[in-house]
Amino acid sequence: MIQLENKRVLVTGGAGFVGSNLVRRLIRDGARVTVLDDLFTGTLANLPPTGFDFIEGSVCDAALIDKVVPEHAVIFHMAARNIIVSTKNPREDFESNIGGTLNVLMAARGSQVERILYTSSTSVYGNPRYLPINEDDHLSLLTPYAVSKLGGENYCMAFYESYGLPTTAVRYSNVFGPGQHPSNPYCGVVAKFIEALFEGRSPVIHGDGNQTRDFTYVDDAVEATLAAARSDRALGEVFNVGTGVETRVNELVATLIKVTGANVEATHSDRRDIDNIRRRVVNIEKTRRALRWVPEVTLEKGLRRTVEWQRAQTNGGAKPA
Ligand SMILES: NC(=O)c1ccc[n+]([C@@H]2O[C@H](COP(=O)([O-])OP(=O)(O)OC[C@H]3O[C@@H](n4cnc5c(N)ncnc54)[C@H](O)[C@@H]3O)[C@@H](O)[C@H]2O)c1
Repeated sequence: MIQLENKRVLVTGGAGFVGSNLVRRLIRDGARVTVLDDLFTGTLANLPPTGFDFIEGSVCDAALIDKVVPEHAVIFHMAARNIIVSTKNPREDFESNIGGTLNVLMAARGSQVERILYTSSTSVYGNPRYLPINEDDHLSLLTPYAVSKLGGENYCMAFYESYGLPTTAVRYSNVFGPGQHPSNPYCGVVAKFIEALFEGRSPVIHGDGNQTRDFTYVDDAVEATLAAARSDRALGEVFNVGTGVETRVNELVATLIKVTGANVEATHSDRRDIDNIRRRVVNIEKTRRALRWVPEVTLEKGLRRTVEWQRAQTNGGAKPA
């Protein structure tokens, strides 16, 4: 079991949504944290004012990565172009998500790095044949983003097999929670829906809303990520991080309308290129057994916390009229 207290820990993409939540948790645990981020979707405002070192730079900068990575004992590699950027510009996605990951792995080879934790995505499952989805089920890559996230993951596993590099990957499923800003054009759907409800607008659902996802509260994702990075049993392994609960987007919106008390109804628009996954819910048994981790926050509880956070961000804590 890897201890993180007093260890030098690098979080690439640490100024982003999940990364900044992880950074807070690592600082609380006494780790000596460095964040490396090019501030593409991330922002310093996500992070606490002090308690960590910050390097503004890209994982595509091989010379920088060669210098920074070996100075750290544990690497959380979260820097990535997200699905919307990736769909618009697959080359940029390729360079960051695959090229950047390769840079991190090459820099770690031959160093004293104890663990590299890679954050992959359940988008690699595409439209699954069976539900809930197991880690070793058939993969179907329906977006350039899925290709690049799997590319990074495959490189991690290949570096484990070929060079004994201590890598582990987690596949996140639709993470939401405090820190996901609706002002970021690339943020997840939950923050966008909440923003619409606060402003008295109808949340716009792409498609009929019967598409399903496994929505994961960010604190649960962070705990699973830490458990995966620390566990000896996680070496060379890939873990689903979700809840095992399948939720229709229509249900998500109905819960948000209830939680915010908004007096509007959802509307529907045409589905977008990236909305080609009909159903998704993951099996978390492997993660539960190997890492002794279970998600603790139900969807409604997580949405309540997210609504409160977003309310405090937008109007200083006042309840919407
Ligand atoms: N949020 C989710 O639902 C979800 C689901 C599946 C996988 N993931 C993965 O989790 C990780 C974190 O996602 P997030 O939701 O926090 O996204 P995010 O966009 O908020 O965070 C990504 C961070 O990486 C930074 N970044 C992007 N390209 C970079 C580069 N070339 N060099 C350095 N920094 C760079 C961004 O500025 C940002 O701070 C990503 O690897 C993502 O693929 C997230």
